[in-house]
Amino acid sequence: MIKTLLTATVLFTAGCSSLYAADVAKGEKGFKKCKSCHSIAEGDKNKTGPNLWNIMNRGVGTNEDYKYSKKFAAWAEENPEWTDELMDAWLTNSKKLVKGTKMMYKEKKETKRADLIAYLHSMGEQPGEE
Ligand code: HEC
Repeated sequence: MIKTLLTATVLFTAGCSSLYAADVAKGEKGFKKCKSCHSIAEGDKNKTGPNLWNIMNRGVGTNEDYKYSKKFAAWAEENPEWTDELMDAWLTNSKKLVKGTKMMYKEKKETKRADLIAYLHSMGEQPGEE
């Protein structure tokens, strides 16, 4: 239910020309590519990468049970908040954004990145929730 609401309300702008209505369900499918390294349900164990529950609200590099690479941890200090724009750049080319990070990922399609970001938003605390 929450997911369908979000589909309608999460509009994502990237670059300057497009306004794309991101699709949480498509993002969930796209997240299959991340699952080899990331769990996302609340309380699930870290894998090669950190659990991503509530990632869009919880700040960059703040999973306390996960040992981030030094480069990523240093970068997180400079960039404490996962904004949509920052997440978009990370998913476009993680190694280009954060030199020396352990995560290698590139998604060229802007719409696929927008769907993923909408999905990440849906997998976290929603406004108004405790
Ligand atoms: C091959 C393994 C792998 C894949 C596939 C992968 N990641 Fe990662 N991810 C990592 C690792 C490892 C880190 C930690 C980076 C570091 O410490 O340098 C990370 C970190 C992250 C972070 C930062 C988390 C934080 O706590 O701030 C996000 C967000 C993220 N990944 C999202 C994704 C998404 C979304 C996908 C799929 C589109 C994905 N990752 C695919 C391995 C992966």
